[in-house]
Amino acid sequence: MTLDELEVKCKNCTACELCQGRTNLVFGVGKKDADIMLIGEGPGENEDLQGQPFVGRSGQLLDKFLASVDLSRNKNVYVANMVKCRPPHNRDPKPEEQEQCIRWLREQFKIIKPRIVICVGRISAQRLIDKDFKVTKQHGEFIDKNGTLFMGTYHPAAILRNPNNKELAFGDWLKVRDKIEELGIEI
Ligand code: URA
Repeated sequence: MTLDELEVKCKNCTACELCQGRTNLVFGVGKKDADIMLIGEGPGENEDLQGQPFVGRSGQLLDKFLASVDLSRNKNVYVANMVKCRPPHNRDPKPEEQEQCIRWLREQFKIIKPRIVICVGRISAQRLIDKDFKVTKQHGEFIDKNGTLFMGTYHPAAILRNPNNKELAFGDWLKVRDKIEELGIEI
């Protein structure tokens, strides 16, 4: 199956109650065989309206971090979320919603085959790296899971709330750049 075919299937998903509130399902965007994949939490209001991940203020900051290390969703990364439909009032996605939705993410992984996965924020890091993941303690650490490297970093929304974290987050993106070089990944 191609990523486009998977997206068509995913857009009909009614596996959890989040489908009831969606304007658009937010499947993901970017390079279809990217070596670098980013996983956020879930769509917010702007994302739900536009059907694209990270298009609000957080997304603009995320794009700046990406650009600072020569990465871009238009060129060399793929961006998706743990859940594809907006949780009401931007609450955290519930464990059962993540459990239903992760099958789409697994299929995305199988098709895209990223070499580096960046968990953007606590929600995806706790589901994909370590259930007790603490961003303040473990950000910037790469973990090898069956040949794919996973790293968790600050969510841009958390940086907008607390700009003191900006330097730390930037440091994580520099580590991503170094890792890309170390692995000889062509971007
Ligand atoms: N926050 C996320 O985690 N994902 C988005 O797509 C937008 C905001």
